[in-house]
Amino acid sequence: MTGAAGFLGRTLIAELIRRETLCGKQIHEIIGADLVAASGAGMTDQMSRAPDGPRVRTVVGPVTERLEELFADPVDVVVHLAAAVSAACEADVDLGMRANVDTTRAVLDRARAQAAAGGPLVTLTFSSSVAVYGADPAHPLPAVINETTLPLPQSSYGAQKLICEQLITDYTRKGFVDGRVVRLMTVAIRVGAPNAAASGFVSGIVREPLAGLPATLPVDPGVRLAIASPQRTVEGILRVTEATRGAAPGQLTGRLPVNLPALTCTIADLLDALGEVGGESARALVRSEPDPAIEAIVASWPARFDNTRAARLGLLPDPSVAAIVRRYAAEHPEAVGRVRHGRSVTDRTRAAAGSHGPPNTRCASAGAARFRAGRRFRRRATPRHGVCRAAAADSPGRGRARRRRPGARTTAHRHTTPAGSGHRRSGTDPAAPAGRLGGGGWCAAYPSVWPARR
Ligand SMILES: NC(=O)c1ccc[n+]([C@@H]2O[C@H](COP(=O)([O-])OP(=O)(O)OC[C@H]3O[C@@H](n4cnc5c(N)ncnc54)[C@H](O)[C@@H]3O)[C@@H](O)[C@H]2O)c1
Repeated sequence: MTGAAGFLGRTLIAELIRRETLCGKQIHEIIGADLVAASGAGMTDQMSRAPDGPRVRTVVGPVTERLEELFADPVDVVVHLAAAVSAACEADVDLGMRANVDTTRAVLDRARAQAAAGGPLVTLTFSSSVAVYGADPAHPLPAVINETTLPLPQSSYGAQKLICEQLITDYTRKGFVDGRVVRLMTVAIRVGAPNAAASGFVSGIVREPLAGLPATLPVDPGVRLAIASPQRTVEGILRVTEATRGAAPGQLTGRLPVNLPALTCTIADLLDALGEVGGESARALVRSEPDPAIEAIVASWPARFDNTRAARLGLLPDPSVAAIVRRYAAEHPEAVGRVRHGRSVTDRTRAAAGSHGPPNTRCASAGAARFRAGRRFRRRATPRHGVCRAAAADSPGRGRARRRRPGARTTAHRHTTPAGSGHRRSGTDPAAPAGRLGGGGWCAAYPSVWPARR
């Protein structure tokens, strides 16, 4: 897997470790390649829980310089996620050509060489984007898009993705690889720090306010988008990777890309969902600050899709925007505590410095059960005293923390820290690496979602 340390790479690796199989075979090893080292928290935690599960090996550096290492043993499947993303490619065309086009061609040629030398034919899945579409004055976009709509990218990123799609299609036609192309919608809500995607604000206007932080909205609230949750996106990537070829339902027909299922919404819908889940105080943290460059890129992407091709593979869009936001809040309780607690990140970090923290310290994860119960977060005038429920689960005898609702799930303390964020955990295991929580440790997860300043 290239781009393994990125948002989707980490999500996908965690899912593969959970499944243990791919394309009907036991996964022997996952090799995660990325420019940066993955925080690896999710991977390491899960590996220790399933010692017989897939081994995860990370290879750090530009993919083009690591290919021999990556293909040292025969590779069956490549999920090619590594990319420079939209705003970065628009700002620096050479970066985009190198990271996207040159890297994809190099991966394809290495996979082809493996097959030519008698090794397995690589199934290669490429994460393309809705950015391949765009309206040209001579050819306006139709109201509803499908895979036969002429792609006319209006950004360098979209053009580079389309070039890669064509390379993969041709290498597949020639029998060099078994290539599959999935076009991803805007994936929301992105966990952790934003990347340089023009669509980064889509997650930011939900993630930051839920964490009690201000966020800026660079586009008009009426702008329409096609979005998908990370879970549906990862499910789509895996379904397309595993599909056998043929014309029957559930099979992959032809070499056309697959547009992953899209949920069409406006930015205003997202803000409503934020208000529903985080309350009006969270919604009030979003400030409008128009950015014509971002608006031009995002508004050029189509928003309404005919998802028939994906539906034939059994893939469906998310049920609603609110469901996406609720799921994010429920699965990342560490990222949503501040509105409720009304306490600063610094306070929380300081509070986590001791093995069990000072009094009046409460783990953000304690809010998760309330989210699951469908209650809204409200800023409390006086924060309640208490301790982390999850810590209590591992540390019997810690007072009020054991008085949790019968049957309430403690939050899974599987915190991932964005690579390079420099945050360290504290807890009962002070030596725990960044992004890992020692069993029963204090939940200092909050900094792990502190966005890198843009
Ligand atoms: N997240 C979305 O909304 C979205 C939408 C459409 C398409 N996509 C595509 O899905 C893929 C994954 O997206 P993401 O959100 O996880 O992005 P991300 O930015 O979080 O991760 C991409 C990773 O690729 C790595 N990378 C870049 N160039 C590299 C190189 N030359 N060698 C090795 N590693 C390199 C980066 O370090 C980064 O960790 C990308 O191809 C992206 O274009 C994502």
